[in-house]
Amino acid sequence: MFIRTEDLTYTYFPGTPFAVEVLRGVNLSIARGSFTVLLGPSGSGKSTLLQHFNGLLQPSGGRVYVDGEPLGYSRRELLQLRQKVGLVFQEPESQFFAETLFDEVAFAPRNFGLSPAAVDKRVQRALQLVGLDDAAFLAKSPFRLSAGQQRLAAIASVLAMQPQALILDEPTAGLDQAAQDRLFALLQELNREQGITVIVVTHRLEQVVPLAHHFLVMVEGRIIMEGSAAEIFSRPDVLERCGLALPPATRLMQELAAAGLPFSTAIFSLEEARAEINAWRERRAQR
Ligand SMILES: Nc1ncnc2c1ncn2[C@@H]1O[C@H](COP(=O)(O)OP(=O)(O)O)[C@@H](O)[C@H]1O
Ligand SMILES: [Mg+2]
Repeated sequence: MFIRTEDLTYTYFPGTPFAVEVLRGVNLSIARGSFTVLLGPSGSGKSTLLQHFNGLLQPSGGRVYVDGEPLGYSRRELLQLRQKVGLVFQEPESQFFAETLFDEVAFAPRNFGLSPAAVDKRVQRALQLVGLDDAAFLAKSPFRLSAGQQRLAAIASVLAMQPQALILDEPTAGLDQAAQDRLFALLQELNREQGITVIVVTHRLEQVVPLAHHFLVMVEGRIIMEGSAAEIFSRPDVLERCGLALPPATRLMQELAAAGLPFSTAIFSLEEARAEINAWRERRAQR
């Protein structure tokens, strides 16, 4: 397991009248190289949980393990951890500060003490991965990029550390459809081609299901369910608790199956529904 938690609890403002226990005993395991989606209603503790994976928050109780080692929280240990586990915050571009895209993406590797030549290489590579490697971008202010490009630039600034795991908190928020599609294509490439472990909080089920291996469902600070897409979608009541609806294609196929047509109910996208229906038509035509 690449990331694992053991009875992880977290309380904001402990020992004060404002104390609120947000994580209440989280036990989870995330395999190296997997693509995991974290679902849950707003306020269930998803963002709080993610911040434990790269040591931004320190558990009130329990433990977090990365790569088999319990996390330590010294400066040196955190620096090492952040090379392994990169976290892309919600609306990460709100934290841009550099004058050029190059400097923005170069910040972490420079901070890590790499030579200028090594930094240059890291930046080029990271920008290439997200598709912002056109030379014209390098000297551009990150603030002048489009919303979709800004999000990609923020991801590049985390990829510049060459992490083994990439964690993203609602990465498509505020993006139009084309930028969302671009982002999911990037996540797929990072996971499948680059072997990066991806953990993402998103409500875009239809887009993420074809990419994801594993789903975790968090409610009120606990993981109440985990499994494959087929397992999660066979429990519409659980999704409803998360404020999520089944993808339209899934609902349609489930209704048709319930009406007696021989369709799989584990269909999550329009493309899969089309293939299922076409296969059925061919079978019928052959009779
Ligand atoms: N910095 C913080 N200080 C105090 N309470 C917080 C803070 N961040 C989140 N919370 C509270 O913790 C709970 C879980 O929040 P969060 O982890 O952001 O959930 P989610 O990402 O699932 O919406 C909420 O009740 C929220 O108000
Ligand atoms: Mg959140």
